[in-house]
Amino acid sequence: MTEIAFVLGTRPEIIKLAPLVQACDRQGIEYVIVHTGQHYSDSLDTVFFDQLELPDPDYDLAVGSGSHGKQTAEMLVGVERAIEETEPEVVLVQGDTNSVLAGALAASKMDTELGHVEAGLRSFDREMPEETNRVIADHAADYHFPPTECSKKYLLREGISSFRITITGNTVVDAIQRNLDIAREKSTVLADLGLKGSRYFLMTAHRAENVDDEDRFEGLLAGAQRAGEAHDAEVIYPIHPRARERLESFDIDLPPRVRTVEPLEYLDFLRATASADLVLTDSGGVQEEACILGVPCVTMRDSTERPETVDVGANRLSSCEPERIERSVAEMLDAGEWENPFGDGDAAERILEALPVAARSKEVPQ
Ligand code: UD1
Ligand code: UDP
Repeated sequence: MTEIAFVLGTRPEIIKLAPLVQACDRQGIEYVIVHTGQHYSDSLDTVFFDQLELPDPDYDLAVGSGSHGKQTAEMLVGVERAIEETEPEVVLVQGDTNSVLAGALAASKMDTELGHVEAGLRSFDREMPEETNRVIADHAADYHFPPTECSKKYLLREGISSFRITITGNTVVDAIQRNLDIAREKSTVLADLGLKGSRYFLMTAHRAENVDDEDRFEGLLAGAQRAGEAHDAEVIYPIHPRARERLESFDIDLPPRVRTVEPLEYLDFLRATASADLVLTDSGGVQEEACILGVPCVTMRDSTERPETVDVGANRLSSCEPERIERSVAEMLDAGEWENPFGDGDAAERILEALPVAARSKEVPQ
């Protein structure tokens, strides 16, 4: 009998659901993995299944890229079929992508329950497709797993009952704890990129509102250049395919301090983050990882759904304005220490414990 169906489709979901899959293996909980195929390039997909030692997906819907409507609709059809065939007690989705939206919509209309991992995050910017996805997933879900008090508060404010909510911490901490030492031991990324002993900032930028807008994309690159110049640092930019395509179609010349490299494997990215002098990003997960690893972060956005990182002093919002990016970098390089607000690395266990399946799997057989 299938107890849990994991619906996932993108890089961050694979990374953040991996601790839950591994916890199911430890506890003997039966599960299936339904991969929507939203990400399909090896560098965003299979490389993470391999490194995180995850089993191959039971369903590969191979939906691929497309407009929001087409992509979400195709996933919805595929996820519905997978739920029909496997009859899971609970469907788990994580985060805020279109795969999450499709998984949430499909599950909420069927005879199964829905759990949302990383519930209650809000940027309060409804222009972001991710904000729509997370709000809808939260309002469709039966079980909510916010990482922090702050995200629980947002759920309560929207009328979600407290008995449905369990604060768990973020599974990204579980993933880091499991993989950081392995990354330090095995990853050769610093030598491969010629970064050993040198000062560098690690940058990611892929958000639609930044890289699909030529002015904002140029602005964030100019900011990275100014900050690199001011602190004699190289800016290493593992570039997401979406951003690569935009760079080419806008015909933008990279400034000299910024070096693009292929998207990094998880262990390499963890290693490169942990050793960076600073992180520049518009990613959600990367803001969290920098904060957890004690690396100062500047987020090139106007809002963040991770306000905890700003509140503890680990992160600063700079928008995509070159001067503000340069100033924020200077300020963050002087930041003191902070506490990790995202939990102790037991999020996966807490999530399973709050689900009915885990309670039953612990019953002693008669
Ligand atoms: C998606 C999520 C975003 C998340 C990101 C994680 C939505 C609305 N967006 O953005 O929240 O932060 O994943 O990385 O769900 N492409 C490839 N190979 C792939 C996948 C995409 O080359 O494997 C290219 C295609 O040109 C595609 C573009 O990237 O059109 C965008 O892909 P898409 O899945 O629409 O969104 P992401 O930008 O990846
Ligand atoms: N990541 C990675 N290699 C890279 C860039 C990011 O392994 O080159 C990982 C990173 O460790 C983090 C996750 O991808 O856990 C974040 O995913 P992304 O930025 O694509 O999505 P978001 O978190 O913004 O939704």
